[in-house]
Formats: sequence, C-alpha cells, structure tokens
Amino acid sequence: MRRPYLIAGNWKMNQGPAQTEAFFGAFSAPSHPEVEALLCVPFVSLQQALAKAGACRIGAQNLHFEENGAYTGEISASMLQEMGVTHVIVGHSERRQYFGETDAIVLRKVKKALEHGLTPILCVGEVLAERKAGAQERVVGAQVDAVFGALSAAERMATVIAYEPVWAIGTGETATPEQAQAMHAFIRSRVPAEVRILYGGSMNAANAEALLSQPDVDGGLIGGASLKPDTFRSIVDTAIRLR
Ligand code: 13P
Repeated sequence: MRRPYLIAGNWKMNQGPAQTEAFFGAFSAPSHPEVEALLCVPFVSLQQALAKAGACRIGAQNLHFEENGAYTGEISASMLQEMGVTHVIVGHSERRQYFGETDAIVLRKVKKALEHGLTPILCVGEVLAERKAGAQERVVGAQVDAVFGALSAAERMATVIAYEPVWAIGTGETATPEQAQAMHAFIRSRVPAEVRILYGGSMNAANAEALLSQPDVDGGLIGGASLKPDTFRSIVDTAIRLR
C-alpha cells in the first residue's frame, strides 16, 4: 500500500510571529499528490503561518481535552479549527515528561481533536533505559493500544502516529533505519494499514533518505531541522525524489 508521505516539522517553543513571517518568506512547499508538508508552529505564530502557508499545511503542537471553560492558559480544538489548523501533535514525549501527560489525557486530546476534524499526530516512543532493557515494544505497544484501543474504526483511520524514540530527540543520535523500520513494522501490526507512521528523532537532510526509504516509514516529525527553510525543504524534496 502506498501511503502519501507526511513531512512534518515541530518547531516546539521556537520562532515567534516575526521569525515565522521570515521563514515563510523563504519557504514554499511543493504541491505533490504523494508528499504533504506540514509545520506545527507555536500558537502565537499560527496566524502568520496560515497567512503565508501556500501548499504547506499548518498544525498546532497541543490542545486541551475539554470543549471550553475555566482552563486558564489553554487552547481548545474549536479555536484551532476556527483558525484553519488541520493537524495537532498530541502526547509528544516532552509533554508527557514535563507536563505530566498520561495515556488517559493523551486519549482525551486525540478524541477532542478528531471531534473537530483535526488530524491528531499521536506521539509514542521509549526512553533510553527502556530500549536498553529491550522493553521498547512493550512500552510503545502499550502507548499505541491505550489510544487506538479506544477509537472507532473511522477515528483510527483519521489518526497519524509518530514514533519518536526519546533517546533520539534533540540528541543528534538517530535510530538506525533498521531500528526505525523494526518499530514501525511492530506498530503497523497493531493499526490499520492506511495509518501513517512518521519517524521522529534527529531526522535531518543527511539521514532523511535512508529513513524514508524504509517500507513502514511514512514521513518524519522533524524538530531542529525544520527551523530553517532550506533544510526543511530539502527533506521534503527527498520525499518527492523517493516517489
Ligand atoms: P529533533 O528532530 O530536534 O530531534 O526533534 C524531534 C522531535 O521531537 C519532533 O517532534
């Protein structure tokens, strides 16, 4: 099955409105039937990004699981939908680690995003100690099942998964293409064949081709290397070359 590539950037807490304008002044995403480009920018930069996105889709990095109400500082799915956002990252390891997000919270956020027609990008991944103990499949399998086990068939099909080994995030240490493929195949065995599984963790212009060539790697969730227009574009172009 040929799943369209999704090349997604996660800017994390980088690039405010002025830098976002400058980025999109220098970046244009190609229109390609089998390669989608997406940038998930900070909330305060969404407006600038959406105004200049062209063929690039724009996503958010988080949302709240309630519809609205007394949740100071939070952003709802309907607010994102109103702005024109199409995707939202849910359960990134940084949110799980620093903001106490549990599988139960992640599930509620995924459900809320889907209710509003937003594509959730569900992040899963093991920490170094778990990999060293050979527990990566148990850990990641549980993270996937906690969400996918509670979704309808239609909701599963509308969800994207990002496998991000925590030990490879921002460390310059990438999973080998073989390690990535093995975990992606493992995740694939638990979800419908149409679900896209992105790899994240120190993906860059130099290693993108080897990772994206793996049969079960359907794209990337790219942190540091998505902050510069030319490096991000070169990863998008790599995906296009592979199609
Ligand atoms: P880096 O590409 O900077 O390692 O970040 C990966 C990531 O966490 C994307 O969500």
